[in-house]
Amino acid sequence: MPVPLPPEEARQFIDTDQAPAAHLDMLNALSFRTAVAGLRLGVFEALATGPLSVSALAERTGTDPTGLRLLADALVGFNYLTRTGAEYANSANTARWLLRDAPGSFVPVLSFWGTVVTELWGDLETSVRQGGPTVDFYAWLEKRPDTLADFQTMLRRLSGWLAEEIVSLVPAPGSEGRLLDLGGGHGGYTIAFCNAYPQLRGTVVDLPGALAQGEAAVTEAGLDDRIELRPGDLLTADLETGYDLVLLFNIVHGYDERQLAGLLDRVAGALRPGGRVALLEPLAEVPQRPPGVADSFVRAFSLNLFHTQGGRAYRFEDLAKLLAAAGFTDPEQHLLTRSDADHLVLATRV
Ligand SMILES: C[S@@+](CC[C@H](N)C(=O)[O-])C[C@H]1O[C@@H](n2cnc3c(N)ncnc32)[C@H](O)[C@@H]1O
Repeated sequence: MPVPLPPEEARQFIDTDQAPAAHLDMLNALSFRTAVAGLRLGVFEALATGPLSVSALAERTGTDPTGLRLLADALVGFNYLTRTGAEYANSANTARWLLRDAPGSFVPVLSFWGTVVTELWGDLETSVRQGGPTVDFYAWLEKRPDTLADFQTMLRRLSGWLAEEIVSLVPAPGSEGRLLDLGGGHGGYTIAFCNAYPQLRGTVVDLPGALAQGEAAVTEAGLDDRIELRPGDLLTADLETGYDLVLLFNIVHGYDERQLAGLLDRVAGALRPGGRVALLEPLAEVPQRPPGVADSFVRAFSLNLFHTQGGRAYRFEDLAKLLAAAGFTDPEQHLLTRSDADHLVLATRV
């Protein structure tokens, strides 16, 4: 957690140049890495049922007592744990957010980003120097089932939070409509559209591992007969044609403009004339977004996209130009009320 500071000390670091703000960042980076270690070693789960001494905690987590004590003391310093006498306990914030079964648990997010930062950001300078990614992010992810599950869980939860408003913003896709969800993995958005429109049929195209959660969710929703999950590469698979609506949700930021132009051409080819494409994206520059958590996240996320995929967060006007070039008209953007960063962009195939 951010290093706890008295207000006057925080002011010196953050609002003035009396102390190097980078020192705080350095500590925050250590705090983040320490929390990821606590998570990976099962420290927070072991303390879920109550406080423990170091020796009991070491026994529960199968760790070395000396190393664990140092880790636990660091976690106390960063407010992830508390210590009373010889016993350690989860802080209230840890108990609320860092247990797997907590409602809306933050564990998938911390776990996924912990892996990205520790495994992929070691050579951040290389992509900036060479002008392209150092890894094939989705191939890397498909080889890590646990990280892939965290990634899809994180996005599925977000879909649960955003889908209702998204469905209300997209014009109805026709009484016997067909929807294509490219890179729709966990299936959350296609399920929401199919629940809203009882005649709608959906096709989700994604990589095989990414569809695992989608399969379970579609069955649980009782929609096996209306949603087809099709393993395939969205850049090369035969998409067929005649769809009323194509979803490209959190997809375009993974590509550079040249790849994106090709992808949007394919989407135009898959839609019937008058059909719509819907993009869900954190946009790069948004006048109404004040500096703060969302703004900082989008900037760092965009850098991560460039480093791991050669993509970036686009501006609405970039997307509007690319959509026009692919034969789309009437682009519009909506900032979702439940998010400071996510926008829905809609356009109609001529
Ligand atoms: C950022 S996730 C977005 C998931 C979902 N659309 C959402 O918004 O929650 C990107 C998705 O695209 C899929 N994907 C990436 N590259 C792909 C490719 N070449 N072919 C098919 N799916 C791909 C990933 O597996 C992943 O499920």
